[in-house]
Amino acid sequence: MPVITFANAKGGAGKTTAALILATELASQGHRVTILDADPQRWISHWHEISGPQKNIAVISEVATASLQCHIRENRGTTDYFVIDLAGARDALVATAIGLSDHVMIPVQGCAMDARGAAQILELLKQLDERAGIRIAHSVVLTRVSSLVTTRAMAAIKALLSARGVTVLDTPIGERTAFRDIFDCGGTLRSMDPARVSNLDKACENARLFAEEVLRLLPLRNRERAGRGFFQTIRRAA
Ligand SMILES: Nc1ncnc2c1ncn2[C@@H]1O[C@H](COP(=O)(O)OP(=O)(O)OP(=O)(O)O)[C@@H](O)[C@H]1O
Ligand SMILES: [Mg+2]
Repeated sequence: MPVITFANAKGGAGKTTAALILATELASQGHRVTILDADPQRWISHWHEISGPQKNIAVISEVATASLQCHIRENRGTTDYFVIDLAGARDALVATAIGLSDHVMIPVQGCAMDARGAAQILELLKQLDERAGIRIAHSVVLTRVSSLVTTRAMAAIKALLSARGVTVLDTPIGERTAFRDIFDCGGTLRSMDPARVSNLDKACENARLFAEEVLRLLPLRNRERAGRGFFQTIRRAA
């Protein structure tokens, strides 16, 4: 049961949106997903409240640094994928979640390319590696990419980040009405009305390709790393 965490120290990078799109897509494909909502704005908890029970999705709202590992342990048996949505911060909760992750997704807005928040998360990942030999797989996912951004411009952004050793997903998350409306309508992209949401088919295809790429990046088996030294190290790194 891999743990996929969305982190960017800067607010508004698209973490919550990307986390919900991934979680609902995986659930639609039949995987059991537990979302740990550690974003103080609680958008995903609110989405869950207005959606009613959703097949294959559980949402845990009260997530603190001390309880994070318990939530994962207690829900392991009934979860295929954990998705953690973090605050736009760099604190102990962020460091703990990252330390427990199999893959850290770092959303960066494709248009703005303001990568300072992403750089802070990359620095945290580097410290975990250098101080404790804990290597957490991670990738940047470009978000809110407008259809006007050319393939060439995207390739240039990817080349820039790859030159710094950062993997960038091939599938960006587009700027789509459906990705905003899902928080107001509840449910999943697949349960939305195509007559009322523009380009819903494109949003569904985007979500499918994104989830497919994320799944390809995950290890086949979850790693175990629950030693005391590990948690002392990640607390220090925070
Ligand atoms: N792909 C997208 N298409 C359209 N709108 C988007 C997309 N991604 C994000 N947004 C919008 O951008 C705003 C910020 O997105 P979101 O809440 O996902 O970011 P965040 O990184 O979780 O922010 P915070 O750090 O405050 O938790 C929201 O209004 C959201 O609806
Ligand atoms: Mg958020």
